[in-house]
Amino acid sequence: MRVGSLFSGCGGMDLGFIQAGFDVVWANDFDKHACKVYADNIGPIIHQDVCTLEADSLDEIDVLCGGFPCQPFSSAGKRKGVEDHRGNLFFETLRIVKHHRPKAVVFENVRGLLSTKNATGNKLIDDIQEVLENLDENLSYKVKWKLLNASHYGVPQNRYRVFIVGIRSDIEAEFKFPAEIIPQNPQELTVDWIINYDKDLPNQEHWKLSPQASLMAEYIKEGGSWKDVPYDVLPPRFKRIADNIKHYRSPNFYRRFSRNEINGTITASAQPENCGILHPLENRRYNVREVARIQSFPDNFRFDLDMIQEAYKVIGNAVPPRLAYHVGKAVLDTLTQHNSDNISSAKRSRSLTKEPSERDLILK
Ligand SMILES: C[S@@+](CC[C@H](N)C(=O)[O-])C[C@H]1O[C@@H](n2cnc3c(N)ncnc32)[C@H](O)[C@@H]1O
Repeated sequence: MRVGSLFSGCGGMDLGFIQAGFDVVWANDFDKHACKVYADNIGPIIHQDVCTLEADSLDEIDVLCGGFPCQPFSSAGKRKGVEDHRGNLFFETLRIVKHHRPKAVVFENVRGLLSTKNATGNKLIDDIQEVLENLDENLSYKVKWKLLNASHYGVPQNRYRVFIVGIRSDIEAEFKFPAEIIPQNPQELTVDWIINYDKDLPNQEHWKLSPQASLMAEYIKEGGSWKDVPYDVLPPRFKRIADNIKHYRSPNFYRRFSRNEINGTITASAQPENCGILHPLENRRYNVREVARIQSFPDNFRFDLDMIQEAYKVIGNAVPPRLAYHVGKAVLDTLTQHNSDNISSAKRSRSLTKEPSERDLILK
């Protein structure tokens, strides 16, 4: 099964699909740092703006996957939805879908997508579904979407993402989202697992905190947050929030997860204000290897970039490969179910019903 990948980033989603048994035949992103990491670990990637991609220059595919950029849909952003020109990258994606008519499409986005409305007050997710159900008179998809928490699929992180899966209407098979996984060893979901690894692994450098963040971190205990910092040490903007905590809905900045917890969502900006990026025991950010582990990248996946914050950005932007693996496997099962008269497909499907053992989703 051949996959085309748009908005591929450093390859989190693609790696999961490869682990599930797909062949990624082309990938695209316009960010040079993401492309370098992708090329170093996975393979060739077209470094170009999707708007300039010529659909007929791309090889045929069975599945198109892509997480069109989340900023316009993020609840943290201004929520302009499709009004923001980046929202129209969804329509660039449809241009490729219409040309290649893949058997399945898989899109991933942030949770904020579900509450975003378009100019006429309709929910964006309903619009996306409707558009995919009626692409043109000969092309439509049966669409299902679901909000998944990565930690329910073996990823040591509470990270919610929406997956939208469309199966071409002529395919006589029904897609089912993967069942949640009960980990064989629940300890592998904790912060304790994240920080205990072989000291020879690559990318153990960390991005230094600002002097102000370092000072605050000194007061924050394991399992705590900015609320542990004495008032007189808080910077002015935090004092303003502390003075009117109800108005600001009691935000939980500078969360430092404890070793027996599941870490919160790692964001692309990796700022302690908006994500649990503080090491539980040391006054520093998690290092690059640790954030990669939180995102379920295998320990031999490398992030060799000159600018360290770019490594945090590409990792924070990624779909956790383990989550993508489970979604990819469910898509593959659906498509091989359809091809059940094809002996080789059926064999592959059978072999995939075996769950991977502990940390065996290593990079091929
Ligand atoms: C959320 S990230 C996708 C991460 C990826 N799915 C993964 O699992 O690693 C979105 C990506 O879209 C890329 N992007 C945004 N606008 C683009 C454009 N116009 N053309 C190509 N890539 C674009 C960004 O560079 C970013 O890497």
